[in-house]
Amino acid sequence: MLPQTPFYYYDTALLKATLDAIQKEIAPYPNYHVHYAMKANANPRLLEMIQQTGWGADCVSGGEVQKAIEAGFPADKIVYAGVGKSDWEILTALRNNIFCFNVESIPELEIINELAAREGKIARVCLRINPDVEAHTHTHIITGMAENKFGIALKDMLQVVQLAQRLDNVSFEGLHFHIGSQITNMQDYVALCQRINEIQHQLHKHDIYPSVINVGGGLGIDYQSPDERPIADFKAYFKVFVQHLHLRPEQSLHFELGRAVVAQCGSLITRVLYVKQTSTKQFAIVDAGMTELIRPALYQAKHKIINLSSRSEQMERYDVVGPICESSDVFDKDILLPLTQRGDLLSIRSAGAYGETMASTYNCRPLPLTYTDRDFSIIL
Ligand code: LLP
Repeated sequence: MLPQTPFYYYDTALLKATLDAIQKEIAPYPNYHVHYAMKANANPRLLEMIQQTGWGADCVSGGEVQKAIEAGFPADKIVYAGVGKSDWEILTALRNNIFCFNVESIPELEIINELAAREGKIARVCLRINPDVEAHTHTHIITGMAENKFGIALKDMLQVVQLAQRLDNVSFEGLHFHIGSQITNMQDYVALCQRINEIQHQLHKHDIYPSVINVGGGLGIDYQSPDERPIADFKAYFKVFVQHLHLRPEQSLHFELGRAVVAQCGSLITRVLYVKQTSTKQFAIVDAGMTELIRPALYQAKHKIINLSSRSEQMERYDVVGPICESSDVFDKDILLPLTQRGDLLSIRSAGAYGETMASTYNCRPLPLTYTDRDFSIIL
């Protein structure tokens, strides 16, 4: 008997294979370091497996810093970014002696310096530079263009680096970048590498030699064909940096991968409550909604939907919708599924990243339960 739906189901064997694939690609480069982007999925069972790789964590809140440490990520491998860090969050990171703050503005740099002085600490900082490089992805998840709220503008960079070097309680470590998410065109990363080369060249003229370069995350996955391509092309991704980024031998290169690590291992399992026929449409109304997986409503994201129960050879068109009182609570429209009935189980695929972490209790719904292939097996 399956548990109550809806629930997230994680394939830990696939997660392990994905982690191994990344490890294999970075193994030849001891100066390459991966920090898992906690925001993609902070489920403790997945975190436990991910921290066993020896990676660090990429956090965007004090809560994530605490959770990363609880999950066993070494504090000295934690990076912490975010445009709006509260004082308590900065203090949490300082008291845990994290590896580095990714600082996004002058006022933030000054506050970190002030709080570090009060704590008798030196805060290691990277400056998050907005590289003005366009990522070809959904507008809501582009971050590295001049008009985005993230990072320090290129024109202000030198001044901010020099300020960081002057302040007594911060230590300038290097530069951080992140151009966006769900990036599948490797040319975007080539463009980022070229921009970083230019920036470093400019800084060298002022005798500034960053020791850390952090290129953020953003590698995309194949939402259309999760079975054909369950593991992202990490070979092609890391090769871009090997070939295009000029590093000095003593420099370390840091990556903040989230989605590409966990997206494909997660599915949202939901049951069909009703099939409703209207004059123009056939709706499969399911018991999961935007409260469990908000990506389709928020970004018009497409997740492959599979009927796990139907054996019918008759294909029909359905709008697959949730029960939430919002017109945008739609998983997909006009998709072909085998004849679908009340009680059928559907699997909404590639939901391991930004699914569970973005769940809400809107409409007083409980947060989704989660299981893995170690609890029971489902053929997805
Ligand atoms: N580093 C920084 C500074 C970030 O802002 C992000 C994601 C990452 C790393 C990890 O990016 P990833 O490798 O996962 O693409 N909720 C959206 C995605 C938001 C991404 C936010 N930042 C979605 O569901 O598509």
